[in-house]
Amino acid sequence: MKEMVLNDGNKLPIVGFGTYKATEQEGIEAVKFALENGYRLLDTAAKYNNEEAVGKGIKLSGVPREEIKVTTKLWRENLSYEEAKSEFETSLQKLQLEYIDLYLIHWPANAKNYDNWQHANAEAWRAMEDLQIEGKIKSIGVSNFWPEHLEALFKTARVFPAINQIEFHPGYWQPDVTAYCKAKNITVQSWSPLGRGEILNNNILKSIAKKYQTTVAKVCLRWVTQHDVIVIPKSTTKERIKENIDIFSFELTQEEIQEINAIPKLGYSGEHPNLWPDRES
Ligand code: A2P
Repeated sequence: MKEMVLNDGNKLPIVGFGTYKATEQEGIEAVKFALENGYRLLDTAAKYNNEEAVGKGIKLSGVPREEIKVTTKLWRENLSYEEAKSEFETSLQKLQLEYIDLYLIHWPANAKNYDNWQHANAEAWRAMEDLQIEGKIKSIGVSNFWPEHLEALFKTARVFPAINQIEFHPGYWQPDVTAYCKAKNITVQSWSPLGRGEILNNNILKSIAKKYQTTVAKVCLRWVTQHDVIVIPKSTTKERIKENIDIFSFELTQEEIQEINAIPKLGYSGEHPNLWPDRES
């Protein structure tokens, strides 16, 4: 499978496995099944409450630790130097791992939650940089950051973020954020590449899927990867877990990519901090 080389030299496969909303037993089985079926990049978060399940799934799969890239995230209510360090240790213990491959700030601090959001992000980032120096994290990055958040972070950062994980699917793909990250050599990862299922009835996607005799889900995932964006679809259904990694038997044309780019927005599903109310997003 194609790998993306990050700005710190580490590599990640272009397709990974998402675990958001996977509950205890379901999560263990899904992670184990995903690893047995070729996935080598896993995505979880402290907020998902399933790091233990992900850790158990890894152990049960028998896949050597060094072959797997594990991502977890620091929740946005814990953005201080001390909390970032202790939250990281908690995640490590829950996952039963010695190190994390990719650690992300889950959401930027915002003006509603922090008197000084710039300082909160900067302090959490400083802790992550120190953890990286200690060898406990291989790559550090962010999630749901807009260029404004990144610009503020760059003022004090010693290490450039390797990743920005953002909502990215045919119904909402943030081309401006993506272009900004690419220009800064920050690799983009897509969350909810299937638009939480809401995009699967779209007629443009359906007709492209028909042409390639494939599914709409695969067309979405292929479109994301053809933007050089890492995709981490989540599913707890075995058939779909297998389907979502088997997306390289066809390639969309430039015209089809443009056609999908132009699909009208479904609307933003996150809870983005309203720091820039006039911003078009
Ligand atoms: P399930 O876990 O029952 O398979 P997103 O990643 O965009 O948030 O979407 C996740 C949702 O899409 C989940 O509800 C998941 O359900 C469903 N899903 C995952 N893979 C597929 C697929 N290949 N086809 C249809 N639905 C899928």
